[in-house]
Amino acid sequence: MAQLLALIFHLAAISYTLGFNGDSFELECPDECDCHYFRINWVTDCSESNLTEVPYDELSMSVYILDLNGNNITTLKAFPSDIKMRRLQIAENRLTRVDREAFKGLEYLIDVDLSGNNISYVDPEAFLDSRGLLNVELQNNPISVVEGPFLVSPTLQYLDLSWCNLSTINPQFFDNITSLTTLDLSNNPLNTLDDGLFDVLTSLDTLKVNDCKLTSINENIFSALSNLKNLELAGNQLTNTDWAELLGKLTRLQYLNIRKTGITSLSEDTFSNCTNLVTLILADNELRDLDLAATLVNSVNNLELLDLSNCKIKGPIAGEVFANATRLKSLYLSGNPLFAPDLQEALEPLPKLERLFLSNCGLRNLPDNFNVFDNLQELDISHNPLVNVFTKLLAPLEHLEYLNMGYSNLSYIGPDSFSKMTSMKRLILSGNDILSLEAGLFGNLTQLTTLELEFCGLKRPLNANAFFKNLTYMDLREIRLGGNPLVIPASGPIFPKQLSQVTKLDMSNCNISSLNIDAFKNTENITELNLAGNRIKSTDGSLDFLERLHQLNNLDLSNNNLTTIDPQVFVNNPKIHSLNLIGNPFICNCKIAEMWDWANMIKGNLEVLVGAKSAEKDIIVKGNKKKKHLFCHYNATQLRNTTLSVNKTVPGRRPFMKPRELTFANRTWAKYVRESGCEPVVKILRPVALVADLFDFRKGYTSTGASVMLILAVALGIATLMMTIRLFRRRNRKDVDTETNRKAR
Ligand SMILES: *[C@@H]1O[C@H](CO)[C@@H](O)[C@H](O)[C@H]1NC(C)=O
Ligand SMILES: *[C@@H]1O[C@H](CO)[C@@H](O)[C@H](O)[C@H]1NC(C)=O
Ligand SMILES: *[C@@H]1O[C@H](CO)[C@@H](O)[C@H](O)[C@H]1NC(C)=O
Ligand SMILES: *[C@@H]1O[C@H](CO)[C@@H](O)[C@H](O)[C@H]1NC(C)=O
Ligand SMILES: *[C@@H]1O[C@H](CO)[C@@H](O)[C@H](O)[C@H]1NC(C)=O
Ligand SMILES: *[C@@H]1O[C@H](CO)[C@@H](O)[C@H](O)[C@H]1NC(C)=O
Ligand SMILES: *[C@@H]1O[C@H](CO)[C@@H](O)[C@H](O)[C@H]1NC(C)=O
Ligand SMILES: *[C@@H]1O[C@H](CO)[C@@H](O)[C@H](O)[C@H]1NC(C)=O
Ligand SMILES: *[C@@H]1O[C@H](CO)[C@@H](O)[C@H](O)[C@H]1NC(C)=O
Ligand SMILES: *[C@@H]1O[C@H](CO)[C@@H](O)[C@H](O)[C@H]1NC(C)=O
Ligand SMILES: *[C@@H]1O[C@H](CO)[C@@H](O)[C@H](O)[C@H]1NC(C)=O
Ligand SMILES: *[C@@H]1O[C@H](CO)[C@@H](O)[C@H](O)[C@H]1NC(C)=O
Repeated sequence: MAQLLALIFHLAAISYTLGFNGDSFELECPDECDCHYFRINWVTDCSESNLTEVPYDELSMSVYILDLNGNNITTLKAFPSDIKMRRLQIAENRLTRVDREAFKGLEYLIDVDLSGNNISYVDPEAFLDSRGLLNVELQNNPISVVEGPFLVSPTLQYLDLSWCNLSTINPQFFDNITSLTTLDLSNNPLNTLDDGLFDVLTSLDTLKVNDCKLTSINENIFSALSNLKNLELAGNQLTNTDWAELLGKLTRLQYLNIRKTGITSLSEDTFSNCTNLVTLILADNELRDLDLAATLVNSVNNLELLDLSNCKIKGPIAGEVFANATRLKSLYLSGNPLFAPDLQEALEPLPKLERLFLSNCGLRNLPDNFNVFDNLQELDISHNPLVNVFTKLLAPLEHLEYLNMGYSNLSYIGPDSFSKMTSMKRLILSGNDILSLEAGLFGNLTQLTTLELEFCGLKRPLNANAFFKNLTYMDLREIRLGGNPLVIPASGPIFPKQLSQVTKLDMSNCNISSLNIDAFKNTENITELNLAGNRIKSTDGSLDFLERLHQLNNLDLSNNNLTTIDPQVFVNNPKIHSLNLIGNPFICNCKIAEMWDWANMIKGNLEVLVGAKSAEKDIIVKGNKKKKHLFCHYNATQLRNTTLSVNKTVPGRRPFMKPRELTFANRTWAKYVRESGCEPVVKILRPVALVADLFDFRKGYTSTGASVMLILAVALGIATLMMTIRLFRRRNRKDVDTETNRKAR
């Protein structure tokens, strides 16, 4: 009986440790890759693994997502015929062609990402077998010339051809992809677009043709695109365009971006048919002589966002410019040389305004009538040479909840500046060389939730007397101090008691090399702490400040000078669920494996370690291609030691099947842990196996000692079981990655 029990626990321990490496390997997984479930889908992540070819024979037929981004693959062969792959990501490789052969039989394929390769030829029939194809990304390839139809796919909806060096688009190009809803042609040297080019794309919803060196555009080019909602033509020289004719047919247009298109004048009826326009971006055009009032008068009724940044608009702006724009919520006037009195008049009819951007307008003072804005939530008056005494001007903004006075050349801020702004929630003073903060400066900001003082040249974090001594700022939750050359005292807390409610603290890039153990004594309820880009080393006690932070959820220690790290330092931070250690010069040693096991087993989720495996955001289509991984480095001695085994088999770590040579020093943590031979250190598991080993099955005797051990084994076994259940419960909760819920995201 005892032996049987022991055997059961022994087996339980072994089977559990099999999932140890953070890999799930119910299904096949290529030697060089990491595999896991994402929701219920099998992800095979071979990204940035220095592969020169696709590991065809090692793939599971059920692979749902195959990520081969960032390798050295030059050619594609045929995939196994029964493979049910839905998504193929092979961006940032060295492919030169997309041939039919390579995609033959991929009936289930929905998404293909081929961006950032060296592709010059795409077989139009390459995706003929993929009858559910929706998304193709080919941006950043030297495709250059295409003859005849580009692709044949009756289902294709999304096509990205930006940065493809296309200089012309032939008339048949879109003939067999007529279901397209989104097309991006930006950053191709097109010069011109032929008549009727888009006529077959009647479903098109979004068209981007930014930065295509267009010098003219036929006024009928969009006449068939009656469903177009979003149009971007930014960065083309379209000075002589008849915008009224061009836009006249686009009655459904909601979003129009014609930033930097060389516009100097617009006729009064330009937008008169675009009655659904919600967002209009006219920034970076020379509209100095434009009668804005006349142009906008008919079309602005539904407008919610108007961007007129950098349009060389000089005062006086006629008073009625925005007269009919009663729904306008966001107005960008940044970069125009404005004077306060003109502004005062123009803004008068906009009581609904929520966001006003007046950055870099050469303003020396502000309009007197800011009090008309009952709804103003964001005011950006950064980068203006505001004279230092502006207390009076801002004083009426009693309801203001957001104020950005960043980069405004303020070296001194009078102590009463904010005394009336008791509604203020977010105050940004970043980028001003504020040498010291006046006593009581923030005293009356009792509703403040966020204070941003980045790049202010501050040496002391925040001195107590900037706040009222008798108050605790109950709402003040976030303080951003990034980019200040802080001098951290060798002992004692660095923040005053008034800030005890702060939960989010950004002290990134502050030149910090050490923090004393009491550094956060007055702010011990911090949940998010950003210390990225400092110089914190792995010396003894350098992370002792963590001891006090029992509520810590998120810790960013990326880009510091850590060479090694021990999971033991997080023993007082039980709530930690995101730890970013990317960009530190870690040495490859068994501490890496300990951290890995800590995340995987103690925390029960490898994703706690940012960069350990592909996170959800890396798995999403059209997302960022280059992941950041956690790396460690072998030192020269280790590399030279040719006898160093890279296949020490340790129970629970997935061994490499093919021989490997240690030729380069950089290792992802995932690979290092597999090849290291480091014993799993999770103490809860080892004793179970050990205890079971103690029993001598052949003799079958049980001593008192053995009984005690058995009880221990039972207890530990139950603990193990519970952890297992927890782990599995989490997995089962995840749902299917359907197209609909993906879109919803
Ligand atoms: C690809 O190969 C080149 C040279 O062979 C090498 O410099 C480069 O680092 C490799 N890239 C990757 C992602 O392995
Ligand atoms: C990729 O592999 C080649 C040799 O196969 C090696 O020279 C190179 O350093 C490796 N690059 C990386 C980034 O691992
Ligand atoms: C492509 O479109 C053209 C014009 O609509 C049509 O004649 C041709 O049959 C299509 N080709 C395929 C392979 O569907
Ligand atoms: C605007 O719409 C009207 C009615 O739909 C149409 O007659 C007119 O031609 C359009 N304007 C332009 C410039 O296309
Ligand atoms: C625009 O505002 C003016 C008054 O400034 C008014 O006479 C006109 O009817 C308004 N136009 C529309 C389309 O609402
Ligand atoms: C702080 O705000 C209160 C209430 O708005 C006001 O009465 C008081 O004068 C302000 N304090 C200072 C120092 O301005
Ligand atoms: C706190 O002190 C300030 C000045 O230091 C004073 O104006 C305020 O009334 C005091 N508030 C309370 C609640 O005592
Ligand atoms: C931190 O939070 C706990 C529990 O909410 C509270 O008892 C404690 O006073 C807080 N610490 C500080 C410094 O406010
Ligand atoms: C990191 O630490 C090493 C020695 O431990 C030192 O030589 C190096 O200058 C440090 N780097 C920075 C950026 O502080
Ligand atoms: C290289 O690493 C080995 C093993 O971790 C260590 O014993 C040795 O001291 C290291 N050598 C250098 C130069 O850092
Ligand atoms: C080389 O590696 C082997 C295996 O890890 C080890 O036993 C040996 O001591 C190492 N030699 C040197 C010179 O580091
Ligand atoms: C690595 O170890 C595993 C398990 O013992 C074994 O199956 C595999 O063949 C070994 N690989 C090499 C290259 O020795």
